Amino acid sequence: MTDKWTPDSWTRADARQLPTYPDAAALDAATDTLSRFPPLVFAGEARALTADLAKVAEGKAFLLQGGDCAESFAEFHPNNIRDTFRVILQMAVVLTFASKLPVVKVGRMAGQFAKPRSTDMETQDGVELPSYRGDIVNDIAFTPEGRVPDPQRMVQAYNQSAATLNLLRAFSNGGYANLHQVHAWTHDFMGRSPWTREYKDVADRIGEALEFMAACGINMDTVPQLKATQFYTSHEALLLRYEEALTRQDSLTGGWYDTSAHMVWIGDRTRFEGSAHIEFLRGIGNPIGLKCGPSLQPDELIRILDTLNPGRTPGRMTLITRFGHDKIESGLPPLIRAVQRSGHPVVWSCDPMHGNVVKAGNGYKTRPFERILGEVRGFFAVHRTEGSFGGGIHIEMTGQNVTECTGGAVDVSELDLADRYHTHCDPRLNAAQSLELAFLLAELLRAELAGVAGRQAA
Ligand code: TRP
Ligand code: MN
Repeated sequence: MTDKWTPDSWTRADARQLPTYPDAAALDAATDTLSRFPPLVFAGEARALTADLAKVAEGKAFLLQGGDCAESFAEFHPNNIRDTFRVILQMAVVLTFASKLPVVKVGRMAGQFAKPRSTDMETQDGVELPSYRGDIVNDIAFTPEGRVPDPQRMVQAYNQSAATLNLLRAFSNGGYANLHQVHAWTHDFMGRSPWTREYKDVADRIGEALEFMAACGINMDTVPQLKATQFYTSHEALLLRYEEALTRQDSLTGGWYDTSAHMVWIGDRTRFEGSAHIEFLRGIGNPIGLKCGPSLQPDELIRILDTLNPGRTPGRMTLITRFGHDKIESGLPPLIRAVQRSGHPVVWSCDPMHGNVVKAGNGYKTRPFERILGEVRGFFAVHRTEGSFGGGIHIEMTGQNVTECTGGAVDVSELDLADRYHTHCDPRLNAAQSLELAFLLAELLRAELAGVAGRQAA
């Protein structure tokens, strides 16, 4: 690895999980086009997110990050964007109300297209073709033409991301996210969930508080925070040619930023020492997520933190742990202790999705809700024991009424999986399961904060 970072210095490091484009000239033409397109986010916004995450690292805010496993061209529709956004708003309201902490809202949206795969090739009925790597690379259809990596897909992904982000900004600031709308974010199809009633209760209490405050002169006009929210975007920085093309020098500070999203993360398969992905990310100013799975050694984690955050800027690093419900209680403590000894400021966030995939009896890849909850409980229990702050959640979810994860209060059985299994990649929590998770999370977070307050008083 060279010392001097440039937007393309990653090309001299060990690059895994990247497609092989058959037409080099077409690839250059596509990235050339992208490099002349406007940035999707402004560097100042990425710095604002770093500052928000610094509050989380301190235990003074909570991080809520969620969205699709993989966005797709086929499911690109305003209703899908709105429905996911509104479930995130509902979850944020529940968490804010229970914890009395600000919630930092980050979507896995407007750019989450590229997927790492366990094998380069996929075999079906004796036919071998390149694996599907997300709509930004190739087609999910198992045909020889579809599976050829097509660089123009990067341009389409950019355009879809730009339109998605535009709608998200409009919803955030144009009135949809106004706290007075808190009742309107409920989905009709969620009526069967007992948690819908709980939500109505929270919404009623917020409405009452708003009326009381309005009588005291505190309203949308005097306090604009009531009528808008800050919503950030994020995705896995996997397809480095795409990320490089959107990496720009900030005119205010001279620093480099990946303007494809506010926050980007490195996956568990590409975060090894000497990887091209670490080399790329160390040079950009955005806040960075690092997925931490069972194979990550504590001393390796500290060396990666030294590389990615040598200045130890609070809010720069979010460690997203994904162990599995049965491994978190043994796997997480060594990482926390090593980070505490090193003095690195980090946000600890729980990804209860990726370590809890099982194959159902009928062949569907699913995630039992009980196991997801089990990992979340284990996460908070470990942080409580270690004296650290469990500060965030990272989930794969959708606002649609899908049947991809089993369990929950409106029980999805293994047989139900066949009904509405729409994901292009991993199984997602549906809207009702997401809201249910938020309520259970709120309870755990309240207990965590009571524990912290207790320790401080003692
Ligand atoms: N601006 C505050 C925030 O984002 C309050 C707020 C407005 C809010 N709309 C919201 C909170 C929607 C949660 C959900 O936290
Ligand atoms: Mn996934």
